[in-house]
Amino acid sequence: MSLKRSIQDLKKRRALVQKGGGEKAIEKQVAKGKLTARDRIKAILDPDSFHEYDLFVEHQSRDFNMDKKVLHGDGVVTGTGTIFGSPVCIYAQDFTVEGGSLGLMHARKITKIMDHALKLRVPIIGINDSGGARIQEGVNSLAGYGEIFYRNTLASGVIPQLSVILGPCAGGAVYSPALTDFVFVVDQISKMFITGPAVIETVLGEKISMEDLGGARVHSEITGNAHFYAESEEECFNQIKKLISYIPWNNSTKAKAIPPKSPNFEKHIEEIIPADPREPYDVRDVIKAIVDDSDFFEIMELWAANIVIGFGRMNGETVGFVANQPLVLAGVLDCDSSDKAARFIRYCDAFNIPIVTLEDMPGYLPGVDQEHAGVIRHGAKVLYAYSEATVPKITVILRKAYGGGYIAMNSRHLGADFMFSWPSAEIAVMGPEGAANIIFRKEIMEAEDPEQMRLDKVAEYKEKFANPYVAAAKGYIDAVIEPEETRSILLHALEVSTSKDDYRPAKKHGVPPF
Ligand code: HXC
Repeated sequence: MSLKRSIQDLKKRRALVQKGGGEKAIEKQVAKGKLTARDRIKAILDPDSFHEYDLFVEHQSRDFNMDKKVLHGDGVVTGTGTIFGSPVCIYAQDFTVEGGSLGLMHARKITKIMDHALKLRVPIIGINDSGGARIQEGVNSLAGYGEIFYRNTLASGVIPQLSVILGPCAGGAVYSPALTDFVFVVDQISKMFITGPAVIETVLGEKISMEDLGGARVHSEITGNAHFYAESEEECFNQIKKLISYIPWNNSTKAKAIPPKSPNFEKHIEEIIPADPREPYDVRDVIKAIVDDSDFFEIMELWAANIVIGFGRMNGETVGFVANQPLVLAGVLDCDSSDKAARFIRYCDAFNIPIVTLEDMPGYLPGVDQEHAGVIRHGAKVLYAYSEATVPKITVILRKAYGGGYIAMNSRHLGADFMFSWPSAEIAVMGPEGAANIIFRKEIMEAEDPEQMRLDKVAEYKEKFANPYVAAAKGYIDAVIEPEETRSILLHALEVSTSKDDYRPAKKHGVPPF
């Protein structure tokens, strides 16, 4: 065949494979409000940056008449591209081809692009839209999943791994996203569950829709499996691009810095915290008053909202923020918020992102439910994550720092590099009311006017302990600062911490309270 003819032949072959499962299947996909696999990839990557590989891979299954079936690209599109100029590896399951089901060659395409990502040291983005293990391929499909999970685990902490759920993600397929760093879901489109509604009805006799079982809201608000919730695929793609702009390519580089911009938040930082210490406020306002351009990119906004996590920039460089949220449950730590904070701290530490902690919380959530749900085990994860982290760690106590919360929220005692406190801080074993009721119980009971005595003792306790100066006198706090000074003091602390090198004893790995 002449070169000209063979080029024409190649073009024809490419066009055929790129039709995926064909026009009818594509129409069905679009009718569900979903883009095709290739359109999704193109929408995420920089224009014209996508390079596809393994276009001509074919399945090799012979059972159940599969030898008569052509599955273009074996139902998954893989390749490389860039986002804001940063390289990424990407794959997208193509639901129009045999329901995006995962057979052996489909899995091989995915593991090959994962291996590339790990060798090239660049992020891997996986778009999931699949009926799960290809039933006709039996154990080969299961083997494929296992090989993906293995690579997810090897890549963990080395390159960022993003999972985007844009259709069904059923059965064991859910465990690849669960092993990755960030999971994106879209309303009405994402469906994630181990056992589907049909199985649940057969085994348990309960009827439930896919949406109520494992839709986007369920995973964003109830299970904590999703990190980013979007109303549309377009919004989701913008979130992916924004996240990539904040994180480094791998664990031996730093996130790209951008030209710094001063905060432009409408509220003055001193006006955010109410005069009455029992009144709540939105801690995200404090973050916005501190970070460059007042731009805070929140993660897991809808789950365990009593703690806020996310990225902002300080002097153009990415910083991870962990902040108690007084608006929700007074900002206490409980099982879920502990898990949320601990994983984020470990992510920042793995990828060289300094952590700023803003503290205002009355301690761990009391109650039988929390105790029985394992608040001891979950709460320990926060202690472990902060103690283990060697990136620059800076804390600002805004108001309450009571009890275990004082220790857990990156205290000096867990290795904080810098501890600052606003003058409004109250640092004590517990709140003044509870403390006075316990230690002055006898005096209060025996007093002529027990209520007055109680108030006097609360005031005495507050005077003595509910302020930052006792901790400052011991050197536990490095400086008591005015709210307005917070940004400039943080900028300086981050600047002097850039070459931080913290010692940790050699070990294979720790045994955190997972
Ligand atoms: C082979 C599959 C498939 C699968 C879908 N298809 N899932 N083929 N293996 N797992 C095919 C369908 O036969 C159909 O082919 C086409 O894909 C589109 O599927 P539809 O059912 O028409 O689409 P829809 O109505 O949108 O329903 C989507 C769905 C449903 C909810 C995902 O297909 C479904 O329930 N699939 C099975 C899910 C499942 O139980 N998977 C196995 C999980 S166990 P045609 O030719 O008709 O177009 C598992 C174990 C892994 O994954 C363990 C790893 C540790």
